[in-house]
Amino acid sequence: MSDQHLAALLPSAGASLEVTHRPTPTPGPHELLIEVKSVALNPVDWAQRSMGIYLRTFPAVLGSDVAGTVISVGSSVPSNAPQPGTRVAAFASCFYEGGDANYGAFQQRVLVPDSNVTPLPPGVSFNEASMLPMAVMVAWTGWRTVGVPVDTKYTPADKKGVLIWGGASSVGSAAVQTAKSMGFVVYTTASAKHHEYLKSLGASKVFDYKAENVEQAIVKAAKKDELTFDVGFDAVGQLKSCMDILMDLKADGTAMLASAPLVPEDAPKVDGVVVKFITPPSGEKERAEFFHHVFRVWLKEKLVNGEFVPSPKVQVLEGGLEGIQNGLDRWRKGVSGVKLVLEV
Ligand SMILES: NC(=O)c1ccc[n+]([C@@H]2O[C@H](COP(=O)([O-])OP(=O)(O)OC[C@H]3O[C@@H](n4cnc5c(N)ncnc54)[C@H](OP(=O)(O)O)[C@@H]3O)[C@@H](O)[C@H]2O)c1
Repeated sequence: MSDQHLAALLPSAGASLEVTHRPTPTPGPHELLIEVKSVALNPVDWAQRSMGIYLRTFPAVLGSDVAGTVISVGSSVPSNAPQPGTRVAAFASCFYEGGDANYGAFQQRVLVPDSNVTPLPPGVSFNEASMLPMAVMVAWTGWRTVGVPVDTKYTPADKKGVLIWGGASSVGSAAVQTAKSMGFVVYTTASAKHHEYLKSLGASKVFDYKAENVEQAIVKAAKKDELTFDVGFDAVGQLKSCMDILMDLKADGTAMLASAPLVPEDAPKVDGVVVKFITPPSGEKERAEFFHHVFRVWLKEKLVNGEFVPSPKVQVLEGGLEGIQNGLDRWRKGVSGVKLVLEV
């Protein structure tokens, strides 16, 4: 194996990405080296490229979502972790490593922590797999943030509803599937063209967020179904609608709303509804344990038994690493029910 590989380097905040060779690193004790096959684009990638947020070193390599094959593993990686030759999806640590070039997804070889890796069953392609890590991480972090235990298991008789606003988004579609897996009756919102797809992922009812009085329609349907909604998940930033609905549908006490977008300082307030920004545990050990459960345990099992499928739909962009700059600009124009993916 050559000791160099190609990477899309960000020389400084706001600059254009430059594809060039850089040294291939050796995995530390709890790291895996992945040969990257596909990467998916996320909103944070665009923000980091254009504004440099959370980047501490330059040139940086961006990107969190990666799928590929394990090349080598560090000295303390346990034998039950994916080993060389295994096809995996991985959540790369660009964000936590402040842009350190060894840890960003947008290159041919990347280091990832052994807690952040899921082996792939044969039926899941690299392009599909690259959509998984960020979305599944945010979905589970959201449930954790609002106090839903990972082993929650409701039955229809419990009549436990959950509201997920923005089900056609990448994060929202993962929230729909994870909520369904816990036995919630899932209500979500999306453009009409995505309704059947979201039902196929497990949504019980889907509402067109552009329809007049959609909030009232949701409350009316939930009351008819005799559901209570004590938790919600805002995947796209429509806090007031979510809060008003939870206020009407919660059982006694406080309802909790997880917000994937940052919660603005002047966010609306509704008595009886607490909003929390979704953020993984800040302590390194606790975060590694949480990610281990999400990726190495939960997602691994659900991909094998087909209870979780990569979502939403893949849209493959041309150009490989050279195409990432245009891909981020393309993402900025807006996507509808697709995740933008590039083959490396
Ligand atoms: N907290 C974290 O750690 C974290 C991590 C990742 C992402 N995020 C944030 O999570 C948000 C979602 O990211 P993403 O990558 O999942 O987004 P995305 O896939 O790019 O979202 C696009 C989708 O959003 C839907 N949408 C837009 N406005 C909507 C509205 N008012 N109501 C319902 N649906 C609406 C659209 O649905 P239609 O096609 O039906 O119109 C579209 O399909 C972003 O704000 C991102 O910054 C946070």
